[in-house]
Amino acid sequence: MKVSTYKLLAGFLFLFFFYHCQACPHYKFVVKEAPYTRLCSSKNILTVNGQFPGPTLYVNKGDTIVVDVYNRGNYNITIHWHGVKQPRNPWSDGPEYITQCPIQPGAKFRQKIIFTTEEGTLWWHAHSTWLRATVHGALIVYPKMGTSYPFPKPDVEIPIILGEWWQEDITQVYLDLERYGGLGVASDAYLINGQPGDLYPCSKPETLRLKIKRGLTYLLRIVNAILIDGLFFAIANHTITVVGSDAGYLKPFNRTFICISPGQTVDVLLEANQSPNHYYMAASVYTTVLPGSYNNSTTTAIVEYNGNYTPSSPPVFPYLPEYNDTEASVNFTASLRSLADKEYPIDVPMEINTHLFYTISLGSPCKNNSCPAGEQLRFIASVNNVSFLNPSIDILQAYYCCIQGVYGTNLPDFPQLFFDFTADYLPTEWEIPQLGTEVRVLDYNSTVELVFQATNLVKGSDHAMHLHGHSFYVVGLGLGNFDKDKDPLTYNLVDPPLQNTIHVPRDGWMAIRFKANNPGVWHMHCHIDRHMVWGMGTAFIVKDGEPPEAKMLPPPPDMPPC
Ligand code: C2O
Ligand code: CU
Repeated sequence: MKVSTYKLLAGFLFLFFFYHCQACPHYKFVVKEAPYTRLCSSKNILTVNGQFPGPTLYVNKGDTIVVDVYNRGNYNITIHWHGVKQPRNPWSDGPEYITQCPIQPGAKFRQKIIFTTEEGTLWWHAHSTWLRATVHGALIVYPKMGTSYPFPKPDVEIPIILGEWWQEDITQVYLDLERYGGLGVASDAYLINGQPGDLYPCSKPETLRLKIKRGLTYLLRIVNAILIDGLFFAIANHTITVVGSDAGYLKPFNRTFICISPGQTVDVLLEANQSPNHYYMAASVYTTVLPGSYNNSTTTAIVEYNGNYTPSSPPVFPYLPEYNDTEASVNFTASLRSLADKEYPIDVPMEINTHLFYTISLGSPCKNNSCPAGEQLRFIASVNNVSFLNPSIDILQAYYCCIQGVYGTNLPDFPQLFFDFTADYLPTEWEIPQLGTEVRVLDYNSTVELVFQATNLVKGSDHAMHLHGHSFYVVGLGLGNFDKDKDPLTYNLVDPPLQNTIHVPRDGWMAIRFKANNPGVWHMHCHIDRHMVWGMGTAFIVKDGEPPEAKMLPPPPDMPPC
């Protein structure tokens, strides 16, 4: 009796703090239209608090914050806290129709964001249709009070948000892609902190200028917030030191450029150690689609040393690899290593009880002459030949309230058909996957190894696989077909990087490991949004464990209705 009274009281206190969280910092996100002018013309874009990019939130490791999201725009929207594990609290995670129904115009939703082990740079973004194009911002997670970085404290920190600009309304771009197929309209500019830079028309006066002082060290917290592609990023004449990615520290390594996948964050140190001058900071695309269907322009900012000197005009330009330099991209990913030391230990699952092998493929359900008149070639995308369909009630609610018929649990663990996945020519009959809302249920604390195999169907692509609710160790990657006998022998189990989003090379594979220790429903998808809307995604349902602290929290009182 005593015990249960105690439990009840504890439960009550817990609920009280969960819903009220008096001590947690509160923020207000008002989603609304605001006028912005870029590339010689003006339009209204959807923003948070009128800002583009949106507000940066600063927290310390382990904090919990509350964000009240008010939808004062014209579209349904959700907000996701990318890379925040939100233990036991999928309710605030944000992906539409996975963990919630969207917040309707005029409505409000209070989201509680629980940080635990993350430390470094993350970001938040809309997770409904393509609204994240303009609704996004950085989340900076400082070390716990009284602790510091595993590298000398930088003198200045600067968030660098790599974004994208369409002249057209982004919702129109999205609807046209749905309606007419094809690849969709490519963006007209890439942006650094909201500015295209002086290589674009009408953009010179507003080009971002970073004034730096010789001798100081700058921490650049770089977020790739663009919708579709990876980016190469460099600063002329400066070697940068990569020290973190996806809110996990890395063994520092030097590079003249980095390759950052959509959704990923990379922290680098920039030492102002060159002769005083003006240098371009620049980013250009890494993609595997054919020229003509992507934006091949270059965004720039100018890094200016303080002092009296005559700068070179134009500023010095950095080397950036060709748009299709897969080797440069793969080399970068393969250089990421965790610190894996006493202070920053790692915890790679060694005994695997759940082996998953997911082919990630593009498809094309109607061929040129069988497509309805006026339509372009249509594309579809799949995981193990199942193309994910969004349900009309979110999976989390259906799971929690036992609503039947919303989703199935039959995403296969292995492809039904093994073939030479990366062969040059593959039968076009294989380009038509099944459609369904299929998830994979995982027992609490399962130790999962998941191998992503990119296939060459429809000529293949690179992918940016992203998992919600967990970070994962990237234990292996390679080009070609995964060899289940040989490749595991080459795994890095000593210091693999801990990521939440990572590039799987075109016609290649990647092996990740994680422990499913976060009960809830967690989206897993390609962060190339085109692939995501074509169906390259699924969800993991991680079951509750036995002890009360291994169970999902109850839903907050104001979950948006479907
Ligand atoms: Cu950055 Cu599912 O998202
Ligand atoms: Cu993809």
